[in-house]
Amino acid sequence: MSDEKEQGLARGLTNYGDRDFSVYLRNSFAASMGYSREVLKKPIVGIANSFSGFNNCHRHFPELLEAVKRGVLLGGGLPLEFPTISLGEVFLSPTSLKFRNLMSMDTEEMIRAQPMDAVVMMGGCDKTVPAQLMGAASADLPAVQLVAGPMMTSRYGDERLGACTDCRRFWGKYRAGEIGEPEINDIEGRLATTAGTCAVMGTASTMACIAETLGMSLPGTAAIPAVHADRLRAAEASGLAAARMIANPIRPSEVITEKSIENALRVLLALGGSTNAIIHLTAIAGRLGHTISLERLNELSDTTPVLVNLKPVGSNYMEDFFFAGGVGAVLRELKPLLHLDTVSVTGETLGDRLEQDPGYVDRRVISGADAPLEPVGGLVALFGNLAPRGAILKRSAADSSLFEKEGRAVVFSSLADLASRVDDPDLDITADDFMVLQNAGPKSDSGMPEAGYLPIPKKLSSKGVKDMVRISDARMSGTAFGTIVLHVAPEASIGGPLALVRTGDRIKISVANKRLDLLVDEAELERRRAEWTPSIQPLDERRGYDRLYASEVTQADEGCDFEMLKPVS
Ligand code: FES
Ligand code: MG
Repeated sequence: MSDEKEQGLARGLTNYGDRDFSVYLRNSFAASMGYSREVLKKPIVGIANSFSGFNNCHRHFPELLEAVKRGVLLGGGLPLEFPTISLGEVFLSPTSLKFRNLMSMDTEEMIRAQPMDAVVMMGGCDKTVPAQLMGAASADLPAVQLVAGPMMTSRYGDERLGACTDCRRFWGKYRAGEIGEPEINDIEGRLATTAGTCAVMGTASTMACIAETLGMSLPGTAAIPAVHADRLRAAEASGLAAARMIANPIRPSEVITEKSIENALRVLLALGGSTNAIIHLTAIAGRLGHTISLERLNELSDTTPVLVNLKPVGSNYMEDFFFAGGVGAVLRELKPLLHLDTVSVTGETLGDRLEQDPGYVDRRVISGADAPLEPVGGLVALFGNLAPRGAILKRSAADSSLFEKEGRAVVFSSLADLASRVDDPDLDITADDFMVLQNAGPKSDSGMPEAGYLPIPKKLSSKGVKDMVRISDARMSGTAFGTIVLHVAPEASIGGPLALVRTGDRIKISVANKRLDLLVDEAELERRRAEWTPSIQPLDERRGYDRLYASEVTQADEGCDFEMLKPVS
């Protein structure tokens, strides 16, 4: 453990059984890096750098890193960069979520084990920011989150393109035969063309806005495009803020509180943000012993308007959100609903921040609370005998004509089953049926992938069907849209009621009543429960991280964190 009285290199000495020798050895090895003795006496700001050749979203981190270092030096600290693992969303198999907790452990342990007095965490792609915030919350050393910032949009003919809502839109057109091979190949090269995170209000952007609302990132920084000069200035300011926190430490546990978490939920709802963010925010909060109940989410959702007109819910992109006023403008609209006495890493309260806010807003992108896009929040939790511990629907990205409906279940028992049958011309399915995917939750062998966005069967999509009720224990990408019920808990792989659904059963959804019910009588369900056998690989056939993950991961309503990473009470 670090000795809190010591600063800089003298913190948390390597144990050689002789303290003076430990100091001597560390100083001499640090000197080998070419630092002068004066510099080595400075307090240290660690910089957790998640640059990776497997992470396109972070490709500008080398330049950003220089700016962070500059800020730390300005603040009188010594910047020392260290690498952590990186999670490039589309490069990880079976799914990035599986490695979020690993990255959080890496981040936490390296913050704790190395001699630093504060830390700047550079992340951006979907799972990296929650992983870093989870790690920082557990390490509880003064920490500033710096995000990558979003990509700029691109063009295809006269259309604007932004990863990855438009990836899905064009893929849907391709599947429906509306565009051909040359067009889809051309679009492939144009969807993501700059450094930075996905250009819409997907998970990365949602988490950036949440980090800023929590107070872990500097005010006004969440939405700055990755390639904008302001992003470099934000990096410099983040380094400076971290160096300043050494004299006046503000710990993550003082920033991430019940109140700031509730503010973050309000912002998430007003953004029409990613469903994944519920899981991540629950996990971040859980590291400090705070819980997020889905019942409370519903209360907040019913009293928080959707204000932000961004894809996938609306029509604009993150760069538009930045120029329209960004998170500050949203916070100003939500002010009467927020706790204003929360504190950020700058030391100022949210109330102070909003006092100083310049007040600029572009109403084409950010609506006023008096004229919202939707009167109620973007996300809602559903409960019922099919989801006793809840399920999530992004109602702002769904077709409201499907909200009060009863339908026939068409069940796919696994991802492989889905892949093999969904486009079968003989599949017995109509647009009024409810597609159900089982065994894609956190404990499943697929590790809760973003497969909840079940493709509309080709026989229906080719007839113009764009949306259907889809239900699963999987997640979906924050950039996706549709009437899609996700995160059903408990999941099918551990015998949750979702495992008992059979093709032909009737299911009833009611968004108004927040219900999701399987209309099969209890005696029949009991019979099916007795017959059910688990399909997951047993623990003793697993090894390494996969085994740790399988034994420790919690359900979606607990944030899919590891049981053992919760605080010790
Ligand atoms: Fe990195 Fe979308 S792939 S944010
Ligand atoms: Mg995503």
